[in-house]
Amino acid sequence: MLTGKRILLIVSGGIAAFKCHDLIRRLRERGAAVRCVMTEAAAKFVTPLSLQALSEDRVYADMFSLTDESEMGHIELSREADLLVVAPATADILAKMAAGLADDLASTVLLATDKTVLAAPAMNVRMWLHAATQANAATLRGRGVLFVGPNEGAMACNEYGPGRMAEPLEIVAAIESWFMGKLAAPDFHMALPQPPEAIILPHRPLLGRRALVTSGPTREAIDPVRYISNHSSGRQGHAIAAALATLGADVTLVAGPVSQADPVGVRVVRVDSADQMLEACQVALPVDVAVCAAAVADWKVARAVNAKLKKAPGAAPPVLELVPNPDILATLSAAGINRPRLVVGFAAETEDVVSNAVAKRTRKGCDWIVANDVSAGSGTFGGTDNTVHLVTAEGVEDWPKQSKDAVAARLAVRIAQHLVA
Ligand SMILES: Cc1cc2nc3c(=O)[nH]c(=O)nc-3n(C[C@H](O)[C@H](O)[C@H](O)COP(=O)(O)O)c2cc1C
Repeated sequence: MLTGKRILLIVSGGIAAFKCHDLIRRLRERGAAVRCVMTEAAAKFVTPLSLQALSEDRVYADMFSLTDESEMGHIELSREADLLVVAPATADILAKMAAGLADDLASTVLLATDKTVLAAPAMNVRMWLHAATQANAATLRGRGVLFVGPNEGAMACNEYGPGRMAEPLEIVAAIESWFMGKLAAPDFHMALPQPPEAIILPHRPLLGRRALVTSGPTREAIDPVRYISNHSSGRQGHAIAAALATLGADVTLVAGPVSQADPVGVRVVRVDSADQMLEACQVALPVDVAVCAAAVADWKVARAVNAKLKKAPGAAPPVLELVPNPDILATLSAAGINRPRLVVGFAAETEDVVSNAVAKRTRKGCDWIVANDVSAGSGTFGGTDNTVHLVTAEGVEDWPKQSKDAVAARLAVRIAQHLVA
């Protein structure tokens, strides 16, 4: 896709600079040539040597280097590129770009270029939402600078909100879109819609709170070797358990059979059937919040047999009688004195996603429903992304398509806001 394309990657001095290693690797494996310019601050976070080794090109940092200027002047650097990518783009470099400052090689190249610039901002949520940075970003957008991100989520500084650099593959996707002509200023806006204000929570806001998360499918035995199940991967539920633990919660994850690794710092109880899952959930009570993300089989076989069903010559295939499984979400929502303060269900729908989820919230007696589209083309089951709607008593929030990790981080923050309030 990017064969023969020349990217000038400008790395500025933010904590996300380490991600530019992966970005270079991803661009190069798609055939692009990557040349790096780094700021003095960037060299505090990543070494010129690592960028040089990954790009297999020399790295430029010093504007007044006689050697660099004679071999490759600062104007030449941008002339020889098809696209300039600033990743991470610090608040400082965005401010310099907006103001037209040129006091180091990176800012001088950015001022001297007539090529398209794609910026991937990365900074603390307050820095990103500061009126100065927002004005700078708006000025740059108005001048045709493209933006990818920033994403919303947990940040290195224990705050939550927009400011995380877009993931390397998201930046690659933006670059590929630009080369395919699909990406043009000013209409391109890959960033999430920004919330009106940052969600700034105390450090580890869920410390001392207990959370229960269910994840994955259940398996309903037909006989000792056969079962009924579904395509749930457990990726979303496991990500939620991990996100809640990151915020300090004491998390029990009741997991059906999945191949996901156990999230760090989470107590994992493995189960097979819906009956076992319900029992494990009840043992985990009381909790402050329960998130039922598992795809629990609606039905089980009425009479599972202990010996393998045999195919007898000429005999008709066996008929399976199904009976309903326990409704774990409804049971937890009606748990009386043990009812979690917040019960969150998931609704996997293939049609009328939101209206079905609104009805499900009332029917099950839970507080929130996270509704997602699992229809054939959505790629939700087994995929890495999810497009969800959060249904609460107050209304419906449509969240943009994002990784399951990002959905989990955002949901965990919402849960923390609710419980801490
Ligand atoms: C540990 C640490 C992490 C930082 N992370 C960021 C960051 O993620 N984003 C940002 O805009 N600035 C960050 N800064 C501040 C920048 O490094 C500082 O503004 C610097 O002047 C940026 O220079 P540059 O834009 O020329 O690279 C960080 C500073 C420190 C000490």
